[in-house]
Amino acid sequence: MATPTPTQSSSTEAKTISDDDILIADDLPREKRWVDDNQAMYLYNGFWQLTWSLLHGLLALQQHFKPHPNDVLLASYPKSGTTWLKALVFTIVNRPKYPYNGINHPLLTSNPHHLVPHLEMYATENPTNPRPITEPPLFHTHISYQSFPHQHIHSSSSSSSSSSCRIVYVFRDPKDVLVSLWHFTRKLTAKHLTPISLQEAFHRFSRGVSPYGPYWDHVAGYYKASVQFPDKVLFLRYEDLKKTDSVVDHVKKLAAFLGQTFSEEEDNEGAVQKIIDLCSFQKLSNLEVNKDGSQHVTMSAETYVIKHSAYFRRGEVGDWKTHLTQEMVEVLDQITHEKFKEFGLDGLN
Ligand code: A3P
Repeated sequence: MATPTPTQSSSTEAKTISDDDILIADDLPREKRWVDDNQAMYLYNGFWQLTWSLLHGLLALQQHFKPHPNDVLLASYPKSGTTWLKALVFTIVNRPKYPYNGINHPLLTSNPHHLVPHLEMYATENPTNPRPITEPPLFHTHISYQSFPHQHIHSSSSSSSSSSCRIVYVFRDPKDVLVSLWHFTRKLTAKHLTPISLQEAFHRFSRGVSPYGPYWDHVAGYYKASVQFPDKVLFLRYEDLKKTDSVVDHVKKLAAFLGQTFSEEEDNEGAVQKIIDLCSFQKLSNLEVNKDGSQHVTMSAETYVIKHSAYFRRGEVGDWKTHLTQEMVEVLDQITHEKFKEFGLDGLN
């Protein structure tokens, strides 16, 4: 099987349009949405926008999003560990307000996606003032780093100043991302439609035609930013967080990056391990709110009901081994090698 070439990100910096410009859907390349072949995803600035309304959320952010210095933006490619990262960071930054061992901790009764707002969805509803109001300020995005106007996020002149927000990005092996995304998509597909096959999902993913994709350009954008602005962009690996012998160090690093280093007293009472336990797959997936709860997400004309349980499937490293053919693995590894060899991110097997 020939290695497909993923769609290329066309620019390193977002092209923004002004309020007076009108974006015409017919002017943009389009492909079928994974959940519904009759609906379109749109290619804008080199990345696939899931829906027309989310594209407008992105446009609103490009024009009006001005993060504050204390803002923390969690970023991820879908199915890379967003739910976990939200839980961890929410717990770390809120520990003065909500003790991690408290019986009233919000994570015990709310899904992490309720606690950390989704920036581009918020922007679709608040286009002229798209910065969610939360205290402490903590949001999440699936938008690529390249799609943000850099003068508002980070620029060479602002790297050492306090003017730019902090970003935490979570990265995951693309083979597990594909498998997780395929399962999630099937759960979202309406009953009267035929769910996408794994073969077709693989085909689209490896061409870069996936929600918020191409996956490889998404990762590369945040990785490069983490190298250029190490005090502003933290790049974490899902696989490192899963390792029992390194997770404590990574959570400590995460807290220090957020300016919330654990005190000696917290260290002595095992705070880090308690936070890890609270945010673990085992703990969160067995809470009533995550077993039985659901949320309504409106995108363009459709409303999807997402069961919270859909965010918790297996939570393992290497589940791709039970799903992907040898041929699929070779193609994905080849693309990953080509795209990531310069960053040292290609050795995930
Ligand atoms: P799997 O489908 O491989 O199980 P996202 O949160 O970005 O949507 O990613 C979902 C993936 O993260 C799913 O992977 C899910 O099971 C896993 N996940 C959710 N919560 C987790 C947690 N607390 N720890 C580890 N993995 C978690």
